[in-house]
Amino acid sequence: MVARRMGNVPESGTVKIANVVSKLKQEGVKDMISFSMGEPDFPTPDNITEACVTSLRDHFTYYTPSAGIPELRKAISDSLRSRNGIPCKDQNVLVTPTKQAIFMTMLALVDDGDEVAIPDPEWGTFDACARLAGGKINYVKLSQDDGFTLTPERLMESITKKTKVVVINTPSNPCGAVMSKSDIKGVADIAIDHDLNVISDEIYEKLVFDGEHTSISSLDGMFERTITLGGFSKTYAMTGWRLGWAVAPAHIFKELNKLQTQSITCATSFVQKAGVEAIDGPQTAVEAMKKEFKARRDLIYDLMQEIPSLNCPRPKGAFYLFPSYDKKISSEDLAAMLLEKAHVAVTPGSAFGPSGEGHIRISYATSRNDIIEGMGRIKKSLSSL
Ligand SMILES: Cc1ncc(COP(=O)(O)O)c(C=O)c1O
Repeated sequence: MVARRMGNVPESGTVKIANVVSKLKQEGVKDMISFSMGEPDFPTPDNITEACVTSLRDHFTYYTPSAGIPELRKAISDSLRSRNGIPCKDQNVLVTPTKQAIFMTMLALVDDGDEVAIPDPEWGTFDACARLAGGKINYVKLSQDDGFTLTPERLMESITKKTKVVVINTPSNPCGAVMSKSDIKGVADIAIDHDLNVISDEIYEKLVFDGEHTSISSLDGMFERTITLGGFSKTYAMTGWRLGWAVAPAHIFKELNKLQTQSITCATSFVQKAGVEAIDGPQTAVEAMKKEFKARRDLIYDLMQEIPSLNCPRPKGAFYLFPSYDKKISSEDLAAMLLEKAHVAVTPGSAFGPSGEGHIRISYATSRNDIIEGMGRIKKSLSSL
């Protein structure tokens, strides 16, 4: 018998569809177009790879301090202080894969029966990790009409006396919404008034095309109650390297570090060296990737306007569209139909919380040619339904 808590945890919807796609490719399906992965299609910039190879050659292959090598903790804290205005020190930085950071943060903050406010739709992992920790979910219902952005008003409608933690994610997966500074300030005021911790997932912070990114932890009174999560996967095209961070006030950092010592021990040593180069080295590749993502956003959004069945606000960041569709079919069946008939992989909206049904997630982290071909196939399939 497995533990009862496992009944609360679904398999990741996004990883599930990605696994189906790679199986079909292995089986020889050649014309597959994948809009399913939340993963830049660019190679990791060469300077970063070189830094890793050099450290391997230098035999930097042993355990590191659990919280990370000092130069990477410093690079992360310098960058968050100077660019994001977060009043952190090196000692507040825990180097760990971002997903692992979410898992550990929920374990460290949430007791049985505590409530966790989570945007709905959301990416899936916040919900699963909060439940694993014994938490109950307060869904903060987002609306397509206001660009899927989490507002203070909507947060207030969802929290109760038992709410202990609020999750925000800007820019967001799966909607590409970017919270305005005034909404972030409103959420901060609520967190202070109701004595809540905030988990702020900012992994897409460098991919904002309209508006600007604000770190909630930079606002007065917020550092002490916020865990800021970030990482290398999306900004530097480093998904397979499994490297990110959590930045937390000392009393929470201490607990996260304890969990790290008892789970993964430390992030991979030579990968951490590459992380230093990513942050401190030239940023030209990052700028070029951002420019290309913005061009793709404009292209795919224009193409979507030619598909009458699909509708969503223009995303301001990240690399996803989350359109609703007007057909009487579940999102899972629609995704299966697109995969089977059109060889186009999208993620069913049902993977992204109760409000996700009736939507599909389309990741445009793929080439312009694939975007044009894939959206053409989706258009044809939907018009025949
Ligand atoms: C919002 C969000 N946070 C965190 C992650 C996880 O990042 P990593 O793969 O670097 O652990 C993802 C990945 O898709 C994400 O979309």
